[in-house]
This record gives sequence, C-alpha cells and structure tokens, in this order.
Amino acid sequence: MRMILLGAPGAGKGTQANLICEKYNIPHLSTGDIFRMNISTCTPLGVQAKKYIDKGQLVPDDLTIQVVEDRLVREDCKDGFLLDGFPRTVFQAEELAKFLQSINNTLDVVLLIDVPTGFILERNIGRRICSSCGSSYHIKFNPPEELGICDFCSGKLIQRNDDNEETVKERLNVYTTQTHPLIDYYKTNHFLSTVDGRDDILTVSKNIFLILDN
Ligand code: AP5
Ligand code: MG
Ligand code: ZN
Repeated sequence: MRMILLGAPGAGKGTQANLICEKYNIPHLSTGDIFRMNISTCTPLGVQAKKYIDKGQLVPDDLTIQVVEDRLVREDCKDGFLLDGFPRTVFQAEELAKFLQSINNTLDVVLLIDVPTGFILERNIGRRICSSCGSSYHIKFNPPEELGICDFCSGKLIQRNDDNEETVKERLNVYTTQTHPLIDYYKTNHFLSTVDGRDDILTVSKNIFLILDN
C-alpha cells in the first residue's frame, strides 16, 4: 500500500501512522521525524531545517522534496510506504506525482484525519515525545505508564521545541494557508478518504482500518 496521511498539526498523523505501518508492514516516512533526527545529530540539513521548524514555518520545498525522493528510492519502499507530513504544499504534491510517475509508481490512498482547529492547541501542548525512540504520548489522552518515562525504551520524555502556544498557532496558520488547499487538490486529482479525528486514538484507528481494508 502506498499512502499519504494528511491532517493539521496534532491531528494524530504520527500516532495513527505507527499503528497503520505495524498492521500493513510498510515503512513510516515522516518528514518532521527525519528533520528532528537531523537536528539532534547536527547534520547540515538539520541546521538548515531548525531555522524554520522552531518558528513553525515550512522548511523550503527544494530541501524537503529532496529528502523524500532520497527516501522513496530505497528498497524498503518498493512495495509500499506511508507519507506523514508530506506533501504539505500544492507544489510538493505536484512534484511527488511527477516523481512517482518517473519510477512507475502511484498512490493508492490519500487519507485526511479531520480535526477541528479547536482541538489543536491542547493536542500539541500536551504532547510529550521520547528523546531516544521518538514515540509520542499525551499527558491527558495517552499518558505513559510511568510519568516522564517511555513505555517502550525507558527513554526520557521531553516536549518538542515547536509545541509551545505561540509556535503551535503559527503552525496552524501555515497549515490553513499552505497545506489545507491540498484537500481540494486531492479531491480533484485523486480520491480523498476522510476519517473523523475527534474520536479517541483506538476508535480513529479502527475507522482507518475499515477504510484501508476496503
Ligand atoms: P511535523 O512533525 O510533521 O508536525 P505537524 O504536521 O505539525 O504534525 P504533528 O507531528 O505536530 O502532529 P501529528 O498529526 O503527527 O499528531 P500526533 O500523532 O503526534 O512537522 C514539524 C515541522 O517540520 C513543520 O512545522 C515544518 O517546519 C517541518 N516540516 C515537516 N514536513 C514538512 C514538509 N513536507 N514541508 C515543509 N516543512 C515540513 O498527536 C498529537 C498529540 O495528540 C499527541 O500527544 C498524541 O498522543 C495526541 N493524540 C493523537 N491522536 C489523538 C486522539 N485521537 N485523541 C486524543 N489525543 C490524541
Ligand atoms: Mg507527527
Ligand atoms: Zn522511547
């Protein structure tokens, strides 16, 4: 399966991506995770990306598209992949379509996790991520078994740099102006499936599996 997960910041893309990738055995390609990994290891890409991410703005298209193309040509993406957080602009979507065509590939599913803007602040401000494996938690909606400690690897839970009120508001602005137009783009150029992202995590994944199994 080759799919894209669309959704506002904090809609639950990363959370659902983990469950989908485990069930369908496909690699999880999150541009945000790739950038954060590069930031934590201080690569040249990380240094560039950090300037934008910390302000809640998009990393420039050329850098981002290169990252995704380099990842998509790897062997493990041959039979499927899940893109989380890419594309995020109509230009990125057009470039992705051209690229997939050039390697004789197509998309099977574009899935929107639909969450009203009123949910976004609490989802992002309450998020904690594992500093060693990247797993994501929420202090209220998905707490770890032990406070501040990752269930999977016992790593320390930290808050993302861009999960403060000011930056979340900017990310939401950017989403509305630059990424939301992708909903119409995919409705016109492809088939867009939508799942209600207001439900709890397991209900959302149950509904996603119903769509993907069809
Ligand atoms: P990225 O890392 O992609 O951030 P984002 O799009 O803002 O999305 P998030 O990761 O914040 O949210 P999510 O939907 O994954 O939600 P999650 O599952 O964690 O991008 C970060 C930055 O990188 C961007 O701002 C940009 O600068 C740059 N970037 C990345 N891709 C780019 C691109 N293509 N082009 C240019 N720049 C790019 O859930 C959120 C919280 O809610 C968690 O705490 C979770 O536990 C909780 N939660 C999840 N589901 C539920 C539920 N159903 N009910 C209750 N709580 C829930
Ligand atoms: Mg995410
Ligand atoms: Zn961990």
